[in-house]
Amino acid sequence: MRDGDEYAAAASAYDLFAAAGREARLAAIDELVPRLRPEAGPVLDVGAGSGVHAARILDLLPGARVLALEPSRAMRSLALSRIAARPDWHPRVTVRPEDFFSASLPARIGGALLLGVIGHFDAGERAAVLAELAVRLPAGGAALLDLPRPERPRRIEPSAFTVATIGELTYRGIAEAWPVDAEVMRWRTTYLCLDGERVLTEDTAECDYRHPAPAVVAAEAGEVGLRLAPLADGTHWLAGRA
Ligand SMILES: C[S@@+](CC[C@H](N)C(=O)[O-])C[C@H]1O[C@@H](n2cnc3c(N)ncnc32)[C@H](O)[C@@H]1O
Repeated sequence: MRDGDEYAAAASAYDLFAAAGREARLAAIDELVPRLRPEAGPVLDVGAGSGVHAARILDLLPGARVLALEPSRAMRSLALSRIAARPDWHPRVTVRPEDFFSASLPARIGGALLLGVIGHFDAGERAAVLAELAVRLPAGGAALLDLPRPERPRRIEPSAFTVATIGELTYRGIAEAWPVDAEVMRWRTTYLCLDGERVLTEDTAECDYRHPAPAVVAAEAGEVGLRLAPLADGTHWLAGRA
């Protein structure tokens, strides 16, 4: 991105562009809830984005605290706007601007969310992330993660992935991708705001994103004592401590 924040373009209207799949993500969080242990520590939200999932935890579990990590300034501002509207949450939620490896994490956590973020970590980083979670999760606790589709890198032809109309303007995202190697895909996403056919804003972002196969991540999790179990939707997984 021009300003060095690779999520600045998406953040222009992130909750609209990410609308597809939101129901599935929220349903997956509902499945995680029985495995959360808020008495053990805060629920860690790695790459919290616009804060929509942290909000779900705060709503569902009035006794829970959330520690959200969000290194993108643009995305963080969305999360903080959401939180600003709910003063009752303020004592229970912290939004840290550091990335996973820069933030100092609490000794114990009550669970974790890693949604839309695993692909930002290479194999060594995934192993380190999983190890950091494993030592902090209480017995019976779990982290929720999603593994990117497709499972193996391949060419994705351009396709519009969201269209929303707000008042007189339409928001549309167009994504395409190319395989880079056995695990990495290069995604190019264009975010449009349209007045009829007239393009008012158009921002394009490119990023490399990793698509590790579930068996690979399951083996990495097993190395640190976590068991990876699929949820019914085939996209979300619980990485749990026995
Ligand atoms: C695709 S967005 C997903 C946001 C949100 N979790 C959701 O599902 O809507 C990925 C987020 O991860 C953040 N991110 C990228 N690398 C990160 C890292 N190393 N540590 C923490 N967050 C990271 C990005 O800034 C971005 O907001």
